Amino acid sequence: MSGIRDTMVDTSFVEEFAAYLHKEHGVRAWVVDGDESFVPLGGMEPIDLPHVKFFPFGAGNGFGGLRCAADGESALLRAEPHILLGVKGIGHLLARDTELLQTSDEMLQLSGQMSFLFNLARKTIGVNEIYEFCRIVLKEIAPAIQADYGMVHTKGRRDQAIDIPCNIGREELAGLRAKVLERIPVKNATAISSLADGTSVLYCPIKEKDGPIGFLAFFKSPEKRFFTSYEKKFVSIIEHTISPTVETIRLYGSLRDLYLNTVKALAAAIDAKDQYTHGHSFRVARFSNAIGRHLGVPEKLLDDLDIAAYMHDLGKIGVPESILGKPGKLTEEEFHEIKKHPLLTNKILEPIHLPSLIVDAAVQHHERVDGKGYPFGLKGDQISLFGRIIAVADVFDALTSKRPYREAMTVEKALGILCEDIDKAFDPKAVRAFVSALQSEEMEREWLEIMPDLQFADLRHLGRFLVDLHRILHRNAAAEAPKETPGKEIANA
Ligand SMILES: [Fe+2]
Repeated sequence: MSGIRDTMVDTSFVEEFAAYLHKEHGVRAWVVDGDESFVPLGGMEPIDLPHVKFFPFGAGNGFGGLRCAADGESALLRAEPHILLGVKGIGHLLARDTELLQTSDEMLQLSGQMSFLFNLARKTIGVNEIYEFCRIVLKEIAPAIQADYGMVHTKGRRDQAIDIPCNIGREELAGLRAKVLERIPVKNATAISSLADGTSVLYCPIKEKDGPIGFLAFFKSPEKRFFTSYEKKFVSIIEHTISPTVETIRLYGSLRDLYLNTVKALAAAIDAKDQYTHGHSFRVARFSNAIGRHLGVPEKLLDDLDIAAYMHDLGKIGVPESILGKPGKLTEEEFHEIKKHPLLTNKILEPIHLPSLIVDAAVQHHERVDGKGYPFGLKGDQISLFGRIIAVADVFDALTSKRPYREAMTVEKALGILCEDIDKAFDPKAVRAFVSALQSEEMEREWLEIMPDLQFADLRHLGRFLVDLHRILHRNAAAEAPKETPGKEIANA
């Protein structure tokens, strides 16, 4: 209940009116609140007189009124028309102040909501993964509405179902999803409900133009109060920004998938020019991705690394097949022709206006950290990180693939050759990351599935290999390095 003390902005009118009643009619007046308690205002005190009458302010429940007292009943009767006019005026003032207070409350709420939405937008800007977007949304909204935990159930990039938890374990998600769907009969509007155990649920649909594709749900334990209509309104306002964003991310994901598939098709067409490079771009992309992950490349940039790896030999489309598929040693002129392919890649990609991160990586995959590579002779960090990664993946695939003049090398042997020139041709960080990736059981399973031809002599020896690599890097084990030279393999990869 809101009393006159909390509502009336300026009480001087009431005080002056009480003074007037006293002076002109001999009536003492004081204000009591809706709960009968005395409200101390200037010059007004309860007084014990024989005749007392209460006049409510009439501005809605709970505002109390004026208690008027006099020695004689006639004085009260004479003053009554004046008192009624006065309390009516006070009632109008209270009504006006109540409206002002409500407007101010609404503005405060609105400003809080706007500030929340602004912060949410700031935190989700540039997020193009549904899981990450929903995770941030849950994390931000749950404390704002004092929810104990929450979840999102929606469709992902390829329409697959995604469940995202907030303050609960993943194993609880399926059960919770079923309970929410069971308790919410209408799926396209924000609603408050409760589970069988008394847990309060705030449901908010995620909608696309054809209807709901999922929901956000927030929960409060049975011992806490239920969600309020304000919290429901708050979440439904946010829904108007969440739904379009989820739809945009899904659309963006579909376009990106389409784009990636087009790039893969293009890469397959290039690989098909030479029967011995069949699947080369695909494998280089997988190896590059593994190296990137082990180097901590952010998830959102791994797609760019994939694209660059798929496109790295695009320029070979302009190199005669007779040279690309030549089984024997290349002449100097033929090698000169092959060395043109990174620049041809640049020429092909230029009109597409791809991010320089992708183009640079594709064009620089034959650069060497010692500056003796091509096409530009860049050194060390002048070569982009993605370019240095693809260089390792590219040579590794060339060594572990069958050639007309030799069988495919084992993984261990290929790594040995890679390391011979490690601080001259390759970025040691990229090679080390690759060895770590090769030793990861998860990667091994994936690679054996994708590339059944990849041969491992004995993976357990990779541990020793890492020790050797460390020695090579510290220039203490030159004599122990593998004796084979990479020669043409690296030049032609
Ligand atoms: Fe190449």
